[in-house]
Amino acid sequence: MRTKHLVNRLTLGVLAVAFIRCGGGPDTKNGPPGAIGGPPSTEQPSDQASTANLITPADITLGDIDKSMVEKGRATYDVKCQACHSTGPNRVVGPGWKGVTERRKPEWIMNMMLNIDVMLETDPEAQKGLEECLVRMPNQGLSKEEGREVLEFMRTL
Ligand code: HEC
Repeated sequence: MRTKHLVNRLTLGVLAVAFIRCGGGPDTKNGPPGAIGGPPSTEQPSDQASTANLITPADITLGDIDKSMVEKGRATYDVKCQACHSTGPNRVVGPGWKGVTERRKPEWIMNMMLNIDVMLETDPEAQKGLEECLVRMPNQGLSKEEGREVLEFMRTL
């Protein structure tokens, strides 16, 4: 049972990677649209590709560290992020978070938390991270507020 789950997960992961690599549609050159075995005749724009919901610098205000937000962010980290991220410099599955707010812009970090699918489709740095870690970061379903709290926690690392 467990093995089957693992296999399913791996398959999903491979499919996800293949999807990204193939995203954008150069495949359509391989055959006439609509032909049997060819690509579908109508381009279905992926709704995940929309960058409209991305967090911008104007969405984030950073003041003095807010301790209650840090605690909430830490709690979210413990439950949803710890399996793959250390708070130190070392990679577990994803990169360690030490100094992450110095390496990355706050809106970029927020978008990795809240809009990972769009980021993996459109952002070269996110794509590089995927290539290095070989794992697609799953969407953890955080609210904007939860994401902001995790960002506050990251600022203390
Ligand atoms: C199943 C493993 C997994 C879980 C769980 C996970 N991540 Fe990730 N995360 C990754 C991987 C793999 C990467 C690198 C992928 C990339 O950059 O495209 C990553 C990258 C990131 C980055 C970019 C870091 C950098 O320095 O480039 C941030 C920020 C991040 N994750 C936040 C979170 C938050 C917040 C949570 C919890 C709410 C979380 N992650 C949960 C696997 C995970």
